[in-house]
Amino acid sequence: MLLNESIITRTSVREFSDQKVDHEIIEKILESAKWAPSACNLQLTEYLVIDQDEIRLDLLNKVTKKLSWAPVFIVVIFDKRFSQKRSAAFTSMGMAVENILLTAHDLGLGTCPMTGFSGDKYIRHKLKIPNFYEIALLIALGYPKNNIKKGKERINSNELVHWNQFNKLTPLNDSLSLDEWTTADIINYRRRLAPVYLYQGKNRLGVFNSSIYNKAYNTFLSCYDKKEVKMSVLDLISYDGKFISLLDKNIFLPIASDYLDYTLNILKQKNDFRIAKITNDNNIPLHNNSVDIETCIHKFEFTPKDHIQKIIKEAYRIIKPGGFIFITTANESRFKIILRQILKFYFKIFTKETVNVYENNPFFKIGAFKQRSSGFIKLSLKSAGFKHKAIGKVKVKQGGRFSHHCFNWYLYSK
Ligand SMILES: Cc1cc2nc3c(=O)[nH]c(=O)nc-3n(C[C@H](O)[C@H](O)[C@H](O)COP(=O)(O)O)c2cc1C
Repeated sequence: MLLNESIITRTSVREFSDQKVDHEIIEKILESAKWAPSACNLQLTEYLVIDQDEIRLDLLNKVTKKLSWAPVFIVVIFDKRFSQKRSAAFTSMGMAVENILLTAHDLGLGTCPMTGFSGDKYIRHKLKIPNFYEIALLIALGYPKNNIKKGKERINSNELVHWNQFNKLTPLNDSLSLDEWTTADIINYRRRLAPVYLYQGKNRLGVFNSSIYNKAYNTFLSCYDKKEVKMSVLDLISYDGKFISLLDKNIFLPIASDYLDYTLNILKQKNDFRIAKITNDNNIPLHNNSVDIETCIHKFEFTPKDHIQKIIKEAYRIIKPGGFIFITTANESRFKIILRQILKFYFKIFTKETVNVYENNPFFKIGAFKQRSSGFIKLSLKSAGFKHKAIGKVKVKQGGRFSHHCFNWYLYSK
């Protein structure tokens, strides 16, 4: 394979066949690692090859279940007593590992580098690794079970490459409070993180688990008496497309709005919904009049305050007279609200460090989060002209990231 082709077609493999990997092949792959550059040519990275099932299965229970994926695992360690400045030893390790991944790929094998494991103490004890070695990474190695599919999405290079000076056109908003975010910030955040949650057409967002969607869907269904009549339902913001996926085609004609580009991207890949152009990125109504909408559904957790009112007004305009709007808002536990306030306070007052928007945000995949009070939602609906029909609260055993297990719903009519 040409180098460029190898680089582009390598992808992490997580399903392997049982086929054993010959020692010579493993040696060849690890040989490639030694030709990687290393700080001061110190060559501090070392490799423990685990190819005995007994050891692998023993580690499996204490370290990570991922050890069941492949017949061979490589534990990558490096001597941490040298080259600490600018994480030189660590960086050198990363370079060596890329050689391993590319060579394995070139030889028809699959790999998955992994830091998502625990039990370092146990690994150290079991494999007799001295304390001055850092356990950096595990690499799953084996023959892929299926043909290797196209790799993951990648961010456009122009977002990551700066010519001559740092020149970020759209920096991320790193506030943990949604009230400090604009809709453009949300779009920017989601676009930036799209490669995390879009993978081969699958959505890996997983903000809510399916039980919360099912409950919401059943609640939505129970609000309508005339289930035999087909009606068009517009999902104003189902941010991952999952709720609208549940809508039964025999009862509803689901339409996704293009309110945020990430939803549209996911739905485009699924290709089984009509997509109505409701707003553009600047929130200017662009309703496509050819769609007759009987009902709208909406979730509000991630919508800036002023925009909620705009959306409700827009929904009122596009719903047919007699139609409905159905809204859900997830409830966050008091504990999490307080925790976030503490976090926010801590970052503002005690550290000058940049907030880690990805990991310090408890809802990192969705951006800043804010639960809207039911008073606010009701008032916004009323002032847009909607009439109250019913409201309720639903408890769910597992709410996904929203571990508080319940949501409020509102049904209003035009
Ligand atoms: C340092 C590092 C740690 C990773 N840890 C894990 C992990 O714990 N589990 C996993 O399934 N994948 C892990 N990955 C694989 C990444 O998810 C993967 O590289 C990324 O999604 C890009 O996909 P690709 O490798 O197919 O191009 C890791 C990758 C790197 C570089």
